[in-house]
Amino acid sequence: EQQAADGYDPDAGRGCPHARFVLDPATPSLHADNDRLRAAGPLVPVTAEGVPAWAATRYATLLTVLTHPKLSRDIRHWATRDTCPAGTAIDRIVTDTSMLNAEGDDHRRLRTPVAGAFTARRLQQLRPKIEALTDRLVDALAELPPDEPVDLRKEFAYPLPREVISELIGIPAEHQDALHELSDAVAQVSDTLDDSPDVRRALHELLDRIIEERRDTPGEDLITDLFRLREKDGDRLSSDELFATIELLFIAGHVTTVNLITNAIGALLNRPDQLELLRTGQCDYSAAVEETLRWDSPIAYFPMRYAVQDIEIDGVRLRAGEPVLACFAASGRDPGQFGENADRFDITNPPNAHLAFGHGPHFCLGAPLARIEAEIALKALFEAFPEIAPAARPEDLAPLDTLLGNSTRSMPVLLGP
Ligand code: HEM
Repeated sequence: EQQAADGYDPDAGRGCPHARFVLDPATPSLHADNDRLRAAGPLVPVTAEGVPAWAATRYATLLTVLTHPKLSRDIRHWATRDTCPAGTAIDRIVTDTSMLNAEGDDHRRLRTPVAGAFTARRLQQLRPKIEALTDRLVDALAELPPDEPVDLRKEFAYPLPREVISELIGIPAEHQDALHELSDAVAQVSDTLDDSPDVRRALHELLDRIIEERRDTPGEDLITDLFRLREKDGDRLSSDELFATIELLFIAGHVTTVNLITNAIGALLNRPDQLELLRTGQCDYSAAVEETLRWDSPIAYFPMRYAVQDIEIDGVRLRAGEPVLACFAASGRDPGQFGENADRFDITNPPNAHLAFGHGPHFCLGAPLARIEAEIALKALFEAFPEIAPAARPEDLAPLDTLLGNSTRSMPVLLGP
């Protein structure tokens, strides 16, 4: 392990001859390499989309990294920022100017007003809407021929969180399609989507227009809340920050939840015994959601934190300015935390302390919402289609072609009568 650490020199590593692992969306085994990554050390030198970084692979190390006072998300601490090619998913995330990349007082200032949108009260208000949306999607599925394969990622997992987040933020129905098309391209739902500067500009223009419209017609939504706050206390959120916040929620709140619902459907369909536990009421759907979050984390890799000074973590020396990548999928199956059966999907496992939503000050704001959505979606689907069955073997499903997301590109099923 120490040897791996010593062999790493980020300055000499442009193009990265020293890194042992190359993490790239083009590598077919990208999402299957978790065991190898964990075995290679607690912090493993990698190149991720061409960027030299340390990857935090094991549960205990990831927990340390997520809460370490000398690791910061503030990009100004990244000494070798110029190693990051423009236009990559990493580049997009690390240059985001929302709460995600803020620390200390700035982070609190940006996060606190948004946290109000995710209170238990707001979420309880949303619940009937989520149920109604889910029922509508299930009804539409029931209209399809029962003996032809249906892609549940596209027809079910994808539209639900998209409509819920639009409702929460306050995106008028007439703009939703255009907005989602643009944000999918920017969020790189798939590498094949166009993410040119023109697409980014178009997304910004559309969001600007929506924000302006909301100013004139306030509602029970997040954009209206944030406006009210700005009026009360002018210097709290600049208009750029307001914009970055809404963009972040829109993107962070969508694909991640699509992956969670898709992964849970896949895990359950291929394990009839587990599905039976849910259908007979022996286990709660929330147990299936938590086990999916651990066993098949919706996020594989998430950039970046930077050492603000030389530090040592689990015996590995990091120099000031070096970046660390969080490996959520690898940590979820760490036998060091979850025992020798960490690789087994088992909803009867006791509640697990997975890190799929992060930990510490940047803990996912949308976690309660994602959990509610996934529970409602799975329950409605499996109750409506008692004969539902997979239409492809798990090993035949292509993984997402992105570094960040951990899921399959489709989830074909036969719905049955
Ligand atoms: C942050 C995962 C859904 C909004 C995070 C982080 C993770 C995560 C791991 C922390 C990143 C880090 O510290 O490096 C997920 C997963 C989701 C999900 C797995 C679905 C299953 C959502 C939803 C929303 C959302 C539905 C909003 C509607 C956010 C925001 C942050 C965040 C705003 C930044 C918090 C901060 O920096 O203070 N998420 N997320 N997420 N998530 Fe989520």
